[in-house]
Amino acid sequence: MLVTRVERLHGAAPRADGRLRIFSFAVEATVDGPVDARSGMVVNLAEMKAELRRIVVEPLDGRCFNGEAGVPALKTPELVAREIWNRLDGRLCGLPLHRVRLRETGQTIAYRRRGEETMEITRVFEFSASHRLHSSRLSDAENRNVFGKCNNPAGHGHNYVLEVTMKGAPGSSGELVPAADFDRVVNEAVVDAWDHRHLNSDRPEFRDVNPTAEEIARVAWARLEKPLAAITPGTARLHRVKLLETARNHVEYFGPQGDGE
Ligand code: NI
Repeated sequence: MLVTRVERLHGAAPRADGRLRIFSFAVEATVDGPVDARSGMVVNLAEMKAELRRIVVEPLDGRCFNGEAGVPALKTPELVAREIWNRLDGRLCGLPLHRVRLRETGQTIAYRRRGEETMEITRVFEFSASHRLHSSRLSDAENRNVFGKCNNPAGHGHNYVLEVTMKGAPGSSGELVPAADFDRVVNEAVVDAWDHRHLNSDRPEFRDVNPTAEEIARVAWARLEKPLAAITPGTARLHRVKLLETARNHVEYFGPQGDGE
C-alpha cells in the first residue's frame, strides 16, 4: 500500500540571465509497504514526518540552490525532484520510496527511479468553450435520448481544465520541457484555438467529431503530440491528456497506443 506525507519546501536558484527562480513546492513523498498486522499501519506517520523534515526540509528549505555552503546546485524543479529522491530513497522509515512529487501552482513534477529514471511533468491550462453533444451517426430522436439536455441545438458551455503530462528523461539542461515552450505550444495548438469558441460550429476539427470530453481529449492529443516532441531537449514525449469538463467529470487519454498509467 502507498502512503504519502506532504511537506512544504521553498527555495531559489540562479537562472542563466542572473535572476532567481523562486521555488515553492508541496513535496509529496510516497512509500510502498505492507500493512503491519499489529499496528494496522504501513508506517508511523509521525516518524515519517520527522524523517522527511530532517532529511529534506531542514537542509534545503529557504536556501539558494547555488552549489555553495553545502547546498547543492539545483537550477530546475526536475533537478530538485531528483535530489529529493536521492536523499530519501532507502532512508525514509526503511521502506522503498515509490515516488516523489513536487506540486506548484499550475505544475506538478513526479519522479521515480527503479532501474531507469522516470520523470513526468504536468502543466495545467484552462479554456472556456461551448459545445453540443450530437452524433451524425444517430437519428435526431436517438441523439435526444442519449444526450438529453446536452443535445440542446444552441449548445451549452464549460470551463474546461486541461492537464498535459510529458514523460521521459531530462536533457542536459536539467529540464524535461522548458516551461515557456510547453505553454506556448499548448496555447497555440489548443487553448487559443478553442477558448471562447463554439466547438461544433467554429472549429473544423469538430465538424464531423461529436465534441464529447473523450473526443476533445483525443483531438487535443493529436494536435499536441508532434509540437511537444519537437521542443523537448531530452527523451520526453506526450504521456497523458486529462480533460476536466466539470469538477466532477474528467477523462484521461494516454494516446492511441496508450496502456494507461
Ligand atoms: Ni457539455
